[in-house]
Amino acid sequence: MRIKYLSHFVITVFGIFAVLFSTAQNRSISQKADSVCKLMTLEEKIGQMNQYNDDWNATGPLTLDNDKAGQIQLGQVGSMLNCVGTARTRKWQEIAMRSRLKIPLLFGQDVVHGFKTTFPIPLAEACSWDMDAIRLSARIAATEASAAGIHWTFAPMVDIARDPRWGRVMEGAGEDPFLGSAIAAARVKGFQGEGLGKLNAVMACVKHFAAYGAAIGGRDYNSVDMSNRLLWEVYLPPFKAAAAAGAATFMNSFNDLNGVPATGNRYLQRDILKGKWGFKGFVVSDWGSIGEMINHGNVKNEYEAALSAITAGCDMDMESRNYKHTLVQLVKDKKVPMALIDEAVKRILQKKFEMGLFDDPYRFCDAARETKELNDPAHATIARQIAAKSIVLLKNENMPGQTNPILPLSKQTHSIAFIGPLVKALKQNKGFWDVEVPGVDSNFIVSQWEGVKNKLGADTKLLYAKGCDIEGDNKDGFAEAVAVAQQADVVILSIGERRDMSGEAKSRSNINIPGVQEDLLKVLLATGKPVVVLINAGRPLVFNYTADHAPAIMYTWWLGSEAGNAIADVLFGDVNPSAKLPISFPRNEGQIPIYYSHFNTGRPATSDTNRNYNSSYNDLSIFPKYEFGFGLSYTKFEYSHLQLSSKKMKASDQLELSFELTNTGKMVGDEVVQLYLRDRVGSICRPVSELKGFDKIKLNPGETRTIRFTLTKELLSFYNDQLNWVAEPGEFELMIGASSRDIRLKDQFELIK
Ligand code: GLC
Repeated sequence: MRIKYLSHFVITVFGIFAVLFSTAQNRSISQKADSVCKLMTLEEKIGQMNQYNDDWNATGPLTLDNDKAGQIQLGQVGSMLNCVGTARTRKWQEIAMRSRLKIPLLFGQDVVHGFKTTFPIPLAEACSWDMDAIRLSARIAATEASAAGIHWTFAPMVDIARDPRWGRVMEGAGEDPFLGSAIAAARVKGFQGEGLGKLNAVMACVKHFAAYGAAIGGRDYNSVDMSNRLLWEVYLPPFKAAAAAGAATFMNSFNDLNGVPATGNRYLQRDILKGKWGFKGFVVSDWGSIGEMINHGNVKNEYEAALSAITAGCDMDMESRNYKHTLVQLVKDKKVPMALIDEAVKRILQKKFEMGLFDDPYRFCDAARETKELNDPAHATIARQIAAKSIVLLKNENMPGQTNPILPLSKQTHSIAFIGPLVKALKQNKGFWDVEVPGVDSNFIVSQWEGVKNKLGADTKLLYAKGCDIEGDNKDGFAEAVAVAQQADVVILSIGERRDMSGEAKSRSNINIPGVQEDLLKVLLATGKPVVVLINAGRPLVFNYTADHAPAIMYTWWLGSEAGNAIADVLFGDVNPSAKLPISFPRNEGQIPIYYSHFNTGRPATSDTNRNYNSSYNDLSIFPKYEFGFGLSYTKFEYSHLQLSSKKMKASDQLELSFELTNTGKMVGDEVVQLYLRDRVGSICRPVSELKGFDKIKLNPGETRTIRFTLTKELLSFYNDQLNWVAEPGEFELMIGASSRDIRLKDQFELIK
């Protein structure tokens, strides 16, 4: 017996040194991973496929395990999540280094919109339509997170969402696959920077694969049922773009897709991701989703759940312990071939090699670097700029008798009443999926009150009243709010939902602004003072009273650490708002799902005046309250001179188009110009409009610039009923818009064989 163990030990030691001292040029990473895998026992291999939450800050139903250290030392854990900071990650890594093969742990964290510096929630950032800004935001998040011991972020979330009752709409990029694909790629490149192995790069994790955002009824974790054609045309493109951008990992999703849970869905994970798309990274389950297949009724027990997941291509088990509990037996029972285990383990080991963790398991545990990166003032400056770019100006009218709209406010305004339950809030501004960094001042946030105060000189009197709570029907604070408003030249009212009313497991059937906040607006409007409304939310809310009666509205979402400064920058005109909505805003829940790229139907509803035998509601407009692509500016833009290089385009050719954009206002401004196409006739019905191009153009007052787009066959293609990606000859409408409804220029062309 002793001899056996001795020879085992000798082989292992020799083997490790052989691998670790092999030179890069003659051993590729996959060969190194292969060599390490060959040294591993089955239990150690399964250990690499096992991921535990740290003992705090669970982001799911936590299973208490008081022997994590023991399991890590036995090589039975491959990764930890929600473990933050160089000290804490070093502690766990030191234990891993006491294991037989010294395979380092991977530390993962939901760094979704910033780490210590919190950026706007992803749906807000998507309003910027600024890929450089979005990429930079992820880059800074990665720089901070990697300095704090994190190797891997569970982001970007790229789920297309068309139902704002679903709380996780806040986490993605809205309703459109074209914009969503561009943003997915930008975020992956931001997180991974110049490549894995760089000290400031973290592995991206594209989630939730797939179609999680189409949960029936907007209820989180609910079933998803759709044709494969819709899946390919709308829900998969952002995942494909993220994979093409080099994403290191994917995370599958809680939902069942057409009756098969995504975690056990071979079609998604093997046929599409690892097959068609050639994905070489690894797939992690979502929290407990392997075991949850029992609840789905798709498997009977843990044994069957693990069999289903590993067979379908799920490489790592987050927190369900099904792999730990059953994979050894599944191999012994010859239900799971060792090759499947080895494939998963090697995918995981390869990423650990790419991250440089075998060379130095502590390379991300540098306390000095952590202090430096988490306190770099440049990060806050950039967060402020990106936050200002995420604010959507929804309305900006003149008060009666005034020649100019209310906004921007003058910094010389004599007195301002800043009212509402979110004015002095701090953490609320971080939105959901912020990161709690131990020892880091969670008040590292500029409140909206502070931001406005920072902006104003001593001559402006800034008055405050809370007015009411976010929820509840108590109006006791109204009198004070009215009294404060009556002393002011202008009122700013900051209302909305709580930051944790959107996010995971935050589906709501009623998405109106909660409580009596709109009643507060009513009494403030009755004072006759100009009222600017700030709406803070993680989702499109319903606020018809505010929309119809407030003279000025800014949708401020949740803007993160620099919320107050960014809001003040826009309120007082230091930044001209340029954001445009990446998602349609419904008039009420009855209108959901509502999205711009819908089919025409056989009885199209095209106006609110005719409801006779057409696809309209008898009691509600067919149009959203605010459409996809909508957002105002303090200046105006004129679109003119649309020209096409030809009226006919061969599939093998491309078609050039150009138009002129002029800033006809008095302020420098950025305009997001949008290119939409409509394929008039297709073998599958085609949407009335599809975003096929956009650009963000900065123009000085009076400046005109020629904007150009190139149309290719790719942009005219779609999935036909055989799931072939085809461009069919025929007529196309071309629309240039300031939003999906505000079409400024139109033309048509023909695609010919
Ligand atoms: C959660 C979320 C997922 C997250 C994971 C780890 O349940 O669904 O997005 O990355 O668990 O926190």
